[in-house]
Amino acid sequence: MLKRVLPYAHELMQQAIKPGETVIDATCGNGNDTVFLSEVTGPTGKVYAFDIQEQAINNTKQKLMDAKVTNVQLIHDGHQHVEQYIATEEQGKVAAAIFNLGYLPGSDKQVITIPENTITAIDKLTKVLKPSGIIVCVVYYGHDGGQTEKNALLEHLHHYDQKYFQVLQYGFINQKNNPPFILAIQKTNRLNA
Ligand SMILES: C[S@@+](CC[C@H](N)C(=O)[O-])C[C@H]1O[C@@H](n2cnc3c(N)ncnc32)[C@H](O)[C@@H]1O
Repeated sequence: MLKRVLPYAHELMQQAIKPGETVIDATCGNGNDTVFLSEVTGPTGKVYAFDIQEQAINNTKQKLMDAKVTNVQLIHDGHQHVEQYIATEEQGKVAAAIFNLGYLPGSDKQVITIPENTITAIDKLTKVLKPSGIIVCVVYYGHDGGQTEKNALLEHLHHYDQKYFQVLQYGFINQKNNPPFILAIQKTNRLNA
């Protein structure tokens, strides 16, 4: 059976993460992925969760309290500054990161992820990933500005050297209303990436 996009995004993350590892939710929004990552990494693991909107941070905080999980550090800042928050000893060991691009569901549709920041964050994350670590981007592009971000991201990732990264695009091409698709970047085991 063909897997739907959102469950497949989680499956890719889950395959890359072992309990106790460090992971990143680059766009925590309403906290759905943050809770998922918290459960996958477990009490000995660590989740860094970023968002630029206070409402998103508060919504995620509430969801984490409801789920009674404590291994998440919420960061009210842009993911483009990710390297400032990852402890030195965790650099090169991050197992996975996830982005959900677009706007916060149920909120201001003018506040969206923008290509420069997304691309900066992805480039920085490739430096802190462990070998075989993965970055999963769920690309929503039906909103104003979404197509621009989608095109910029595809163009940028086409140039990632295949010696060091495998880049996958996964999505359905005959569905209506611009359904989201996945861009997944997996670091190979070569040392120089
Ligand atoms: C599609 S929503 C995320 C949905 C979320 N994963 C969930 O489960 O609800 C995108 C989020 O990215 C956030 N965002 C936009 N630019 C950002 C940036 N530079 N750094 C971190 N978050 C950003 C928005 O505020 C918004 O909450």
